[in-house]
Amino acid sequence: MEAITTPSPAGLDRLFYREADGFFPANAGVAMTYDDVSLATLYSEILPRDADISTELAPGLVLQLPVVSADMDTVTESRMAIALALSGGLGLIHYNMGARQQLSEVSRVKNHVHGLIREPIKVSPDEKIGNVLALIEDKKFSFSTFPVVDGDGVLLGLLPGHCVRPRFATRGVLEAMVPRSAVLTIREDELGDDPIARADRFFTEHIGIHKLLVVDADDRLRGLFTLSDIERITQERSLRTKPARDEKFRLLCGAAVSAPRDASGELDRSALLEHVGALVERGVDAVAVSTAHGHTRGVGDAVRAIRGAFSDLPIIAGNVTSASGVEFLASCGANTVKVGQGPGSICTTRVVAGVGIPQLTALYICSKAAAMCGVRVLADGGITKSGDIVKALTLADAVICGSLLAGCPEAPGQIMEINGKFYKQYRGMGSHAAMKAGSAARYGHAKDGAQKSAAEGVEALKEVSAAADAVLAQLAGGRQSGMGYLGAPTLPDLRRNARYTRVTAAGMRESAPHDIIEVKTGNG
Ligand code: XMP
Repeated sequence: MEAITTPSPAGLDRLFYREADGFFPANAGVAMTYDDVSLATLYSEILPRDADISTELAPGLVLQLPVVSADMDTVTESRMAIALALSGGLGLIHYNMGARQQLSEVSRVKNHVHGLIREPIKVSPDEKIGNVLALIEDKKFSFSTFPVVDGDGVLLGLLPGHCVRPRFATRGVLEAMVPRSAVLTIREDELGDDPIARADRFFTEHIGIHKLLVVDADDRLRGLFTLSDIERITQERSLRTKPARDEKFRLLCGAAVSAPRDASGELDRSALLEHVGALVERGVDAVAVSTAHGHTRGVGDAVRAIRGAFSDLPIIAGNVTSASGVEFLASCGANTVKVGQGPGSICTTRVVAGVGIPQLTALYICSKAAAMCGVRVLADGGITKSGDIVKALTLADAVICGSLLAGCPEAPGQIMEINGKFYKQYRGMGSHAAMKAGSAARYGHAKDGAQKSAAEGVEALKEVSAAADAVLAQLAGGRQSGMGYLGAPTLPDLRRNARYTRVTAAGMRESAPHDIIEVKTGNG
C-alpha cells in the first residue's frame, strides 16, 4: 500500500483552507452565501483597533468606513446620510420622492455643519421673562440661554440663563439681555474648513463663555455652537473613525436616480441629465443608477448618458450578479458596480422571479470581473451581522446595508408601539407600497401599473435600534476584529489574506451561541 505523505503544517492549511481563487472555482456550480463559509485565521501582529478600514469607491471618492446606506425610502434621507458620513461612510438618498425634494435632501447633507445648531431657539426683546420660563417648561428645554433677535432675525443680544428665573418673571427680555455690543460672535464666512476646530479655539480663548453665536454679513443670526457639543464632538473625534468629507470639507452624499422613460419607452435623456446636473450643482459626490436588473439596455443608456455629460462624476450602477453584467456596466462608464439580486432581508425576487445568486459566490465572480475592468464592487444586501461584512469585504470594496440601519432613529418614518415594543417600518423598494410611491421603474414597471405587477419585496417592521453612529461603531469594531484575526492591517490585505472553508449546517449551529440560556445578547 502506498504511504500517504504528510504535508507540512503550512501545506495542511493550504489543503483545507483555500484562497478565493482556489475555493470558489472548486465549488463551481454551487452558489454560497455568508453563512455557508467561514474564514481561517492567520498569524497576526495586528491589533484590531489599528486596522485601517478606509476604501476608495471611485477616483477621489474615499470612505473612512466601507459602509453605504441603502437607497431605500425607509432607510436613507438626509438624516441617515449625515449620520453615515459623520461615521465615515456614505448615504445614498433614495428617489421615491420628487426631484426637488431629493435636491433639498442632498443640500441638507452638503450644508450640514456638525455641532452648529442651524435653527437655535430665539426670543424677542419685547417678551417677558415669564413667557420664556413658560416656553422652557412647555418644550422641556434643558437650556435657558437664548439669543435675542428682531423680526428680521438680526441679533440684538443674548438672554443669559442666570436671568431666566421666576423672581424676574415680570421683567422684560430687553432689560435683562446682554446687549449686542457685549456679545462675542463669529461671522459665518470666518468658520473656515473646520468649523469645529474654529469653535473649539474660540471657547479656549474665551474663558467662561459657553455659547458662540454665528452671524452673517448683515448681523442676522445664522446658528449657534455650544461648548458642551464641541467638547463631546472633539472627544469623539479622537476615538472614532473620521467623517467622510469632500475637498471643501463638506460631508459626502450620494443620490440614487432611476432611468426615466419618455412616452415612446426610450430613455428620457434630458430629464435624467437635468436632474443629475442639479444634483451636481448641489455638490452630490456620486449618483447611483439603482435598479433590480442592471444588465439592461435602459440602465446602460442611463449610465452612458450620465458619463457623457459628467466625465468626472463617480457613478454607481446595478444591480448585477454576473461577470458580464459587471463588464457591461463598466463599459458604459460606471465606476462602482452594485452586486446583489435577491439577498436583501425584504427581497422576494428569488421567490417571485426564480432568479438571483447567493451573495458570496456572486461577489467572487463579480469581483474578478471588476478587477479586469478596473471598477469597484459594492456588496448589496443580505448583511445581518458584522461577520458578514468581514466576509463581504474579502471580495468587495464596501457593503450596502438596509435592514441593519432601518431601525435607527435617523431612518425616515415614525416609531410605532406594538405590545410594549417599539418598531419602525422597513419595506422593500419592490413592495407594492414602495412601487406606488415611485420605485416601480427600479423593477421595470410603470408607477400606475405597479399595483397589478408582481411585488418583489415585502413590507416589514424593524425593532427600533440605537442611533446610527452606535450601530456603525459596533459594526466597525467587528470588522476590525476580523481583520485582526486575519493579520490584515488594511482592506487590500484582508482580500489577500482571506482563506475560506465551507460550513455545514451543524457547523453553522456551532457558530452562534448554543446550548445555553442567553440572558444578555452580544449587542446589549
Ligand atoms: P438588506 O438585507 O440590507 O438589503 O435589508 C437591502 C438591499 O435590498 C435590495 N432591495 C430589494 N431587493 N426587492 C428586492 O429583491 C425589494 O423590494 C428590495 N428593496 C431593496 C436593495 O439592493 C437594498 O440595498
